[in-house]
Amino acid sequence: MNLKIWQDVLLSEWGITADLRQLEGEYDLNVLAETGDGKGYILKVMRPGCSGDFIDMQVQALARIKNADATLPFPAVVASNSGQSILELSDERGETRLVWLLQKLPGDCYARRSPKSLDLIHQLGLILGKTDAALKPFEHRFLERDFKWHPVQAGWVTDHLNAIRNAARKDLLAEIISQYHALLPLLQELPFQAIHNDVNDYNILVSGQLDEPRQISGLLDLGDMCAAPRICDLATAGAYVVLDHDHPEAALAALVQGYHATNPLSAAELDLVWPLLRMRLAVSVVNSSLMAIENPGDPYVTVSQAPAWRFLETTAPHPRIVAARLRCICGFPVSEGADRVMAYLDQHRGDFAQVLERDLTTAPMGSLSVEESLWPQNPFDLSSLEAARVGEEFKPKDAIWLGYYNEPRLIYTAPAFCKGPWKASDRRTVHLGVDVFAPAGTQIHAPLDGKVLVAEYRDGHLDYGGVIILSHETPEGDPFHTLYGHLDPEFITRLSPGDDITSGQAFCRLGDAAQNGGWAPHLHFQLALFTDGIEADWPGVADPDEMYLWRALCPNPAALLNLRDDKTSYQPTDKTKVLNGRRDHFGRNLSLTYADPVMLVRGWKHHLFDEWGRPYLDAYNNVPHVGHAHPRIQKLVAAQLCRMNSNTRYLHPAQTAFAEKILSKFPTPLNVCFFVNSGTEANELALRLVRAHTGQKGMVTPDHGYHGNTTGAIDISAYKFNAPGGVGQSDWVELIDLPDDYRGRFRRDDPDRAEKYAQLTEPAIAALQSNGHGVAGFIAETFPSVAGQIIPPAGYLQGVYRRIRAAGGLCIADEVQTGLGRLGTHYFGFEQQDVVPDIVVLGKPIGNGHPLGVLVTSREIADSFAEGPEFFSTFGGSTISCLTGKEVLDIVDDENLQGNARDMGRLLLDGLKQMQNDFPQIGDVRGMGLFIGVDLIEDTGLQKENTRLCSYVKNRMREHRILIGSEGPKDNVLKIRPPLTIDQEGVGMILSSLANILAEV
Ligand SMILES: Cc1ncc(COP(=O)(O)O)c(C=O)c1O
Repeated sequence: MNLKIWQDVLLSEWGITADLRQLEGEYDLNVLAETGDGKGYILKVMRPGCSGDFIDMQVQALARIKNADATLPFPAVVASNSGQSILELSDERGETRLVWLLQKLPGDCYARRSPKSLDLIHQLGLILGKTDAALKPFEHRFLERDFKWHPVQAGWVTDHLNAIRNAARKDLLAEIISQYHALLPLLQELPFQAIHNDVNDYNILVSGQLDEPRQISGLLDLGDMCAAPRICDLATAGAYVVLDHDHPEAALAALVQGYHATNPLSAAELDLVWPLLRMRLAVSVVNSSLMAIENPGDPYVTVSQAPAWRFLETTAPHPRIVAARLRCICGFPVSEGADRVMAYLDQHRGDFAQVLERDLTTAPMGSLSVEESLWPQNPFDLSSLEAARVGEEFKPKDAIWLGYYNEPRLIYTAPAFCKGPWKASDRRTVHLGVDVFAPAGTQIHAPLDGKVLVAEYRDGHLDYGGVIILSHETPEGDPFHTLYGHLDPEFITRLSPGDDITSGQAFCRLGDAAQNGGWAPHLHFQLALFTDGIEADWPGVADPDEMYLWRALCPNPAALLNLRDDKTSYQPTDKTKVLNGRRDHFGRNLSLTYADPVMLVRGWKHHLFDEWGRPYLDAYNNVPHVGHAHPRIQKLVAAQLCRMNSNTRYLHPAQTAFAEKILSKFPTPLNVCFFVNSGTEANELALRLVRAHTGQKGMVTPDHGYHGNTTGAIDISAYKFNAPGGVGQSDWVELIDLPDDYRGRFRRDDPDRAEKYAQLTEPAIAALQSNGHGVAGFIAETFPSVAGQIIPPAGYLQGVYRRIRAAGGLCIADEVQTGLGRLGTHYFGFEQQDVVPDIVVLGKPIGNGHPLGVLVTSREIADSFAEGPEFFSTFGGSTISCLTGKEVLDIVDDENLQGNARDMGRLLLDGLKQMQNDFPQIGDVRGMGLFIGVDLIEDTGLQKENTRLCSYVKNRMREHRILIGSEGPKDNVLKIRPPLTIDQEGVGMILSSLANILAEV
């Protein structure tokens, strides 16, 4: 297409000089005009014969919207030099065209953006609500026309169902259409107004990249505007928002909540959203099927239908549940009559027949919550033994105790509770009933008159066993239902649906573990306001992120037990309060990870759980070396706390046992150890030792190192002293280049790089010798971690140690990050470098979370230090510390965790390297075992550090429920350092999530 004519038009009519590019368009010519100063326009050259009214409607509507709310992201119409909005011009063939010009809005098309977060969708709802409010008084003759996308005239598709060949699909559409016809009278009674009517995913623009906030930056194309009830506009937008969304119902709820916030809807309108949404998709698939018949050669037509079919065929929540969800998110009662039922229950609290024939007000509560309870030990696998004993610690003398409503618990470990493919996927945790723990055989009485709706025996392990649902009615005729789970199934032969049960009647009794699904005997007592969509299969626990719906549909049943709601309702710790407390009580430089921080209250192996029981894969924390909450350590520490915990002034066999174990891992002459509290303290002690032994003070260390947070440790940590606001470099410290062969001055293509990096110690040594400090020693993280997970070239430390020792110095290996088997092929990093240090420092993992540091050195050096004052660290050699340290080392051996680090590390590194082929932003993948760095770069082909991408990935991984870190001088290296227990499933989750996230950018 020759655009020259339109370039001339733009100049002559609008005075704009611009480069033109044709955009996609079905009928009209749409041209992007860019002026070079960052401004842009869309020139719209309408198809020959296009109605002037059609354009005029849009021009007037855009003016109306701008007038009502200038913040709404609609393009402004640019008037020509002669002040006209629409021009009549001839094209190159002499045909008359209506031409108009719009400002170009920033952003990319929503359809191509990912992720489609609930926040973004909520924003769309807010904007659409405001748009419809702005359009309410708008009138135009062209609004009243009949066309295929008119939401109140969609019935035309009925006559074209033959365009759909597949019989099942045809039936599905017939059902959607019949539901639409049933609601048409309601729709027609609602007020009609001008609506956008085509907020599809190609008409929405989104701005914001990486760490910038995502914003709806444009709503386009008012060409399908018509007069219809506003709810149709929302339903149409909803039809596109749900497509291919991982959580379509939550996405719809976010949209509707946004709309309602700016343009309040009625509950009756909300009930129409779901059927109208489905009808819009039905119109869409029928329309494209007709087009496919007209254009049999165009594969695009069929492809474009795929998401709609995928949604219609696979997403089939009960319409009543969707309506309830939308009502709840907008603050309406979950159903008509729900408020009356709750008022009735509240009014009669205290008058209901006692379910256990006794007053429960004095019965104690027992928490099985994520925060307070230790059930189960393994949050991914509740054992049968545990299920049968759960909560036994709460059992009082009279044997009755109660379990909380709204309580997140980790005892629901069966696959049915997990909502995704991974162990750390979303999971249903929050209890929707009240439990009454009482002996098996206890009679259960109906709190009020009812009819049996369900009486079944569910024999699955950890299911309900015997379960009964009763239906009730308030005196005003509003229905509600109660569920009694974990019963003795003896009632099966007595009770049938429809049977009357009278208030106070003993209609069933509690089962024992053999009858009730395997649980400690208790009643699961739950209330539901309706059963459509949950029928006989009520969820007894819900996803914490969906509680806005489930709390409303299954409210706290306390009133029916004659109890106060607050007695039985659990409230996990409020994360915001903790966050505010931190701000109030701690210094500003106590950093917190993630834009939306996580609060973690339980752990198991390489997983952690927040206060609502949401699981996270821990791919970051190296401290829980043998896994979070290791049972052997739990048991050992708990038992020793009951005995005593003292220090090294007294003998205890644990001291020497730990020393023997740790020293068994070291080569000669490293045969003396010092126990301290942390890596910092161990490094601080190392400085004293090298000074005592050499009589010198000067230290050589690679740039960007970190060795701890005390004055002396900071002085040898360039990462801190050179940071903004840092104390700066001391004159007794000489920095040498980091041996980084990816970014440093000697790269992987240089076979002599190790020796060249090692040679850099020479000028450093000379400087210390000439400034009078002399050479006390050299300290390095064996594999620099905060510097970006660097693996030095082979031979590097040999070269450095040789030179330092020749100058009279000692060599300290800080193995806090690398020691104890993390590297897979080696127990310590210095082994991989084929050196024996003079002093080795251990920290973090050696206590698995218990504060512990160890320094190991030779007898000769220890003796030099012993010339000075006595050495004492109160907690360093405490009994519990020694027991813990030894146990950690034993577990690494017993569970072959070093071997696991080797195998899982290989899998992870191979997967990451493979991913490099697909994503140019992965500049380098490096590591050994489970010490891994992924260096992210700009996709320019150069090695420019991509700090923003790294921050984006880290935060998105957290949204995928994976904790990882970032490091490096430019903070562009993803740091992957999981507990050594990580398995193939965990590695798979990391690789799959990272690939998905990188594909978003
Ligand atoms: C290599 C290295 N050395 C020493 C330390 C200091 O250890 P701690 O924080 O236990 O005092 C750290 C902590 O991150 C470290 O990474």
